[in-house]
Amino acid sequence: MAAVAAVYKQILLNLLRRFRHNYSTVAAGSLPSYVKIVEVGPRDGLQNEKEIVSTNVKVELINRLSETGLSVVEATSFVSPKWVPQMADNKDVMLAITKYPNVNYPVLTPNLKGFQAAVEAGAQEVAIFGAASETFSLKNINCRIDESLQRFEDVMKAAKTASIPVRGYVSCVVGCPYEGKIEPKAVAQVAKKMYSMGCYEISLGDTIGVGTPGSMRAMLEAVMQEIPTDRLAVHCHDTYGQALANILTALQMGICVVDSSVAGLGGCPYAKGASGNVATEDVVYMLNGLGIETGVNIEKVITTADFISKYLRKQPSSKVSLAMLGKSKL
Ligand code: HMG
Ligand code: MG
Repeated sequence: MAAVAAVYKQILLNLLRRFRHNYSTVAAGSLPSYVKIVEVGPRDGLQNEKEIVSTNVKVELINRLSETGLSVVEATSFVSPKWVPQMADNKDVMLAITKYPNVNYPVLTPNLKGFQAAVEAGAQEVAIFGAASETFSLKNINCRIDESLQRFEDVMKAAKTASIPVRGYVSCVVGCPYEGKIEPKAVAQVAKKMYSMGCYEISLGDTIGVGTPGSMRAMLEAVMQEIPTDRLAVHCHDTYGQALANILTALQMGICVVDSSVAGLGGCPYAKGASGNVATEDVVYMLNGLGIETGVNIEKVITTADFISKYLRKQPSSKVSLAMLGKSKL
């Protein structure tokens, strides 16, 4: 009798162990072994700064970032200098930076005029940027979504001829500063159109940082029905302090490209109240802790965050930078 009870007990224990294992795998999701970080500080980080940052400082920032092990540093944007005066020195920046052989330096190009200027300045990769919200599209690039897609077609055609890879951004993927909640279906539709045009990667932007792991998951599920997961990136602003949690959710869903900005700089001039992007050093710290490779040296990122923060006379919004820089002063 005792022997039978022992066997039943063992079976029950095994079942419990198996249940626990399956449950924790589902809860945690499987994580990628390598994550590509797309540094957007010199563009997204600086575009919102009211005082014009000198070209020399922008160049030094990009050169320092190039030495951290990052493989992508978005350098500037070829947009109207009347709309975004901070990026008016785009050509000078592109000509002055040291182009490290293992680093790509994409630039934003909203239309053919921007694309042509970018190519003249030596850009070898560009990004087009659309939105899942009509009102944001109008405020940001002065046209409705349909018209923006026509402009992007012109850029795609020219880029194909010049063999230039194009990345695509979709803004307001969970919320819009003008329209509020954005439906996942609307995001999936725009993302699909940009991917079908030939963008090699679609970066999904939580422009105003209102997303949570819940809304992020719902949006990603809709987009993943249209676009292969390995062609997606997430671009999280951190207004509500949810960016790292949102990124972890995306990683658990199989995404392995993450946009971030040194020192957590950033914002969009046409999204009032949006704070900076998630900080690169915070993302690297989390990924290091998860045992995920990035190739990025966190100390060098923190030194670079310190450099640009001192120049801008502001504290980094990165908790990791604050903790590590504080520690080094003790
Ligand atoms: P527009 O006024 O509709 O353009 O602007 P237009 O074709 O009517 O031309 C008007 C004037 O702009 C003309 O000059 C054009 O030559 C000039 P004028 O004859 O009056 O002297 N122009 C340009 N100049 C330089 N570069 C160009 C260009 N195109 C026209 N490429 C435009 C349309 C898109 C240019 C304008 O609305 C613009 O520059 N918007 C700024 C958009 C921007 O940079 N937003 C921030 C980046 S997006 C972002 O931050 C979101 C992201 O991070 C993801 C996320 O967080 O969600 C990517
Ligand atoms: Mg952004």
